[in-house]
Amino acid sequence: MGTKHLYIETYGCQMNEYDSDRIKNALDAEPTDDPKKADIIIVNTCAIREKADQKAFSGLGKYKSIKANKPDVIVGISGCVAQLYGDTLLKKIPHLDFVLGTRAIPKLPEIISNIESQKRRTVETSYDLEELFEVEPYHKRGKVTAFVSVQQGCNKRCTYCIVPQVRGDEVNRPLPDILKETTNLIEKGVKEITFIGQTVNSWKENGYKFGDLIRAAGEIEDLERIRFTTSYPRDITKRMIDAMKEVPQVCHHLHLPVQSGSNKVLSNMKRTYTREWYVDTIARLKDAVPDITISTDIIIGFPGETDRDFQETMSLMREIEFESSYSFKFSPRPGTPAAEYEKEQTVDPDIASARLSELQAFQKDITEKKNLSRVGHIEEVLVEGESRNDPNFLSGRTDHNRILNFKGTKDLVGKTVQVRVTEGLLNSLRGELVK
Ligand code: SAH
Ligand code: F3S
Repeated sequence: MGTKHLYIETYGCQMNEYDSDRIKNALDAEPTDDPKKADIIIVNTCAIREKADQKAFSGLGKYKSIKANKPDVIVGISGCVAQLYGDTLLKKIPHLDFVLGTRAIPKLPEIISNIESQKRRTVETSYDLEELFEVEPYHKRGKVTAFVSVQQGCNKRCTYCIVPQVRGDEVNRPLPDILKETTNLIEKGVKEITFIGQTVNSWKENGYKFGDLIRAAGEIEDLERIRFTTSYPRDITKRMIDAMKEVPQVCHHLHLPVQSGSNKVLSNMKRTYTREWYVDTIARLKDAVPDITISTDIIIGFPGETDRDFQETMSLMREIEFESSYSFKFSPRPGTPAAEYEKEQTVDPDIASARLSELQAFQKDITEKKNLSRVGHIEEVLVEGESRNDPNFLSGRTDHNRILNFKGTKDLVGKTVQVRVTEGLLNSLRGELVK
């Protein structure tokens, strides 16, 4: 390959960020921020909602003129949209050279060299399990946080979700592999690891369960913080909660998507828990880790959602007071059961928009209130780097996963420092270093 330049554009979740870094490593190419300088351009795509899916096409559209001016540049699509539409993409997009499915990253070097030598457009969307976790991600020098994938795919069959279709069944990575990748990252200066998986806490392998994974990570020397995402409510076990309580490196924040506060909607989504079960799970978590913060995902306008169902979601929002939430309007995805329900029980888009605005306005107030309540507290912050807006400020996250900016010098990057909170804003906190 020599020193080829790679430009990669990433959409979607942590899994895609991680896969983009794996692609960088697989190709052993120099990452560049300028697509005009690239020899290989890849758009790593997300299919979770129609809007995300459309972004993939507009993303690729941008590179048409580059390819026209520089025919040797190789343009590819990877990720969930690539897996979903496969070879039809080659027909639709004439300047596209390859389509790389979600499990095919280890095959990428071969694909590229075939395109170079034979000028043959390629589609690789098979699920080759043996090589699944083979390529570790590229790690940017000096970065103190990193993801480690512990699981691919998903075995839940939420009726609205395209993930099982585009990422396949759940495959769990062996514990020794996970610990090895983690240890390698610590040696490169990483202090905080986030284990990632679609339902990360359903991880089990060779007799070990998720709680055992947390405990094993807790034994790794110099690993200061452990996070994980995304947890599936029904897979929260006593073993997991005990590990969260007893392993001091585990951060006190959990992302726990609830989707709806209505049992009828939850059942139609096939989420496998009730509202009461979810509320009780949070109570069990708070019992073990009293200061834990919870964030969530909500879908508004699921087919058949009545005003009453929506009011039940709002009452859950009031009952739990999530630290933050990501909320989306339901988007019908091809091949999912809910796309069929949609045909009969569509929620009027204006009504869905109004519900979404109401929910988001409520969340904004709660998040702001919770951020304000931190003023005066001293927080431990792992310093991640300079603040994006002002180089005189450093930025990091608190144990509870809030962004905290404060004045300080670059030598503190990678250190855990004490910061007194002076301001609570909507998306972050401000504070001052405690000497
Ligand atoms: N387990 C996954 C969930 C992936 S999808 C994870 O790693 O987070 C992330 C969120 O997108 C879901 O929690 C859900 O709230 C939302 N979502 C998924 N499918 C959707 C659809 N068809 N329409 C709207 N939102 C959807
Ligand atoms: Fe999707 Fe449900 Fe799995 S939201 S990723 S099918 S847990």
